[in-house]
Amino acid sequence: MPIAEKIRRRLLVSLSTALLGLQATAFWTAEAATLAPTRYGAGVVASDHPLASAAGAAVLKNGGNAFDAAIVTSLMLSVVRPHSTGIGGGGFMVLRDSKGRARVLDYRETAPARAHRDMYLDSQGQPLPGASTTGYKAIAVPGLLAGLDTIHRAYGSRPLAELLQPAIDAAEKGFAVDAHLAHAMQVLHQRGARNDLKALFFEQGQPRQIGDLQRNPLLAQTLRTVAREGIKAFYSGSVAQKIAAAMQAEGGLITAADLKAYQPTWREPLKGSYRGHEILTMPPPSSGGTALLTVLNLLEPYALGWNSSGHGSSQHTHLLAEALKHAFSDRAHYLGDPGFVDVPTARLISKAHAAALRPQLLAAQWQTLSREQYGLKWLEAFEKPLAAPLSDGGTTHFAVMDRLGNVVSATETINTYFGSQVVIPGTGLVMNNEMDDFSKSPGVPNAFGLIGTEANAIAPGKKPLSSMTPTIVLKDGQPLLAVGASGGPRIITGTLQTLMNVIDFGMNVNEAVSAPRIHHQWVPETLYIEREMPQDVREALQRRGHVLSLGEAESAVQAVMFREGVFSGASDPRKGGQPSGY
Ligand code: GLY
Repeated sequence: MPIAEKIRRRLLVSLSTALLGLQATAFWTAEAATLAPTRYGAGVVASDHPLASAAGAAVLKNGGNAFDAAIVTSLMLSVVRPHSTGIGGGGFMVLRDSKGRARVLDYRETAPARAHRDMYLDSQGQPLPGASTTGYKAIAVPGLLAGLDTIHRAYGSRPLAELLQPAIDAAEKGFAVDAHLAHAMQVLHQRGARNDLKALFFEQGQPRQIGDLQRNPLLAQTLRTVAREGIKAFYSGSVAQKIAAAMQAEGGLITAADLKAYQPTWREPLKGSYRGHEILTMPPPSSGGTALLTVLNLLEPYALGWNSSGHGSSQHTHLLAEALKHAFSDRAHYLGDPGFVDVPTARLISKAHAAALRPQLLAAQWQTLSREQYGLKWLEAFEKPLAAPLSDGGTTHFAVMDRLGNVVSATETINTYFGSQVVIPGTGLVMNNEMDDFSKSPGVPNAFGLIGTEANAIAPGKKPLSSMTPTIVLKDGQPLLAVGASGGPRIITGTLQTLMNVIDFGMNVNEAVSAPRIHHQWVPETLYIEREMPQDVREALQRRGHVLSLGEAESAVQAVMFREGVFSGASDPRKGGQPSGY
């Protein structure tokens, strides 16, 4: 059976199943199961909300470039995906301009100057529950607006005020709550939401439902101030004053000086190759690009055989899981902010590292190995391995291609759903909880039983380790694919499998994004699978020693593609976005 037909059937089966904890959510429609992507002649945007993709595509249609469209899409997502991203957060952008120059902008949040290594431990050295996830102390200095402004100065062709307008209108007039936002609100309700968040997103104590109108007039006002005064309003003007005053009143660490000092960082993309394609991806302080390239290097020699063993077969899944275990072991041991720690990135993404690890893949041919036998740590036979990344549910990705040849792949976040759940009074700003992406307690298990490493310990001005993996793939020197995802550590596996679905299995962009995925992050020693995996494949994987967990492999991938003169895009049906173009 052709692969597209297989996936189509699986999607149809999924119409009645629960994904993301929702029963038959609105976004699993019959149309969503039609896998031929819409084709566009001049440009495309894919994001995880239809209004954001449409706003970006409208800019392209009106003569703006991919960077203008990226800024509009990002700002719109800030409003309509308030649980995933916002100007109280930050992000990473991998871009390639029409002249072929590839760059990375890092506008990740930073730890405030008063942050310190043990700030989430009590006097006995024990983790303070919730301190790094909820409330004012969980907030890192936001970078999103500074990032967009930097992109605008370097590449924008339209006034920033014009690019802010669609987001201002959406915040002012409101938009309909969709399934994913309703789900996030419900999750918060069950966990116990902070009052400032409830005031914004709940009605009479209850979270809004699908179809309800959600407005944020104060955020519209904040964005209007930025449109009038520029981003200095946010970093040193009236908005900064409100943030700093709220921090002082509520015991947060961010000061006016922290906001004023915030600067995005230009970086070089990590470069790799995979089966005749060039990969441009995200360097540290994200772990995403490093892990992506490690896995691709490990699997490259096997990939040709996969078409015969089959997408989703136990052989394919097992090998993928084994490669992921090596990459996530390296992530846990070595990755952190390169401004503060030496990260052996060049070694980890080298073909030589993959070659050195390959005997371990062979050793695991029939049976997965014990956890210390993975990654560079195993090769160097250092002390006992540590660490595993936390799973989280926020974050957004979007990708844009224009008729000029510009490509943007950007992942932005406030971390977990609704970040810190802090809404700064008088601003409508939902603030991140990115401090939780640091290792709160190096060497000591945290509240989740996870152990962190020195490489990602908290320090003033440092950026917490991320999994965000905005990526661009070139073929014969030309852009083929821009891809990335949301979903904590599952960002890496979602991006990876989509890319491999295109390159190894010849899927179109929609098939590649929609196909069932797996996830393994080394620790816990669990292979997460989506529900569609057939029983015989599950049993074969269990015989190889994998502990399977159903229904938790979800990430939400967005991708755009340019092939044979045609643009196409795909938004993951798992989150309910929709691509747009013209
Ligand atoms: N906060 C999600 C990430 O950066 O990986």
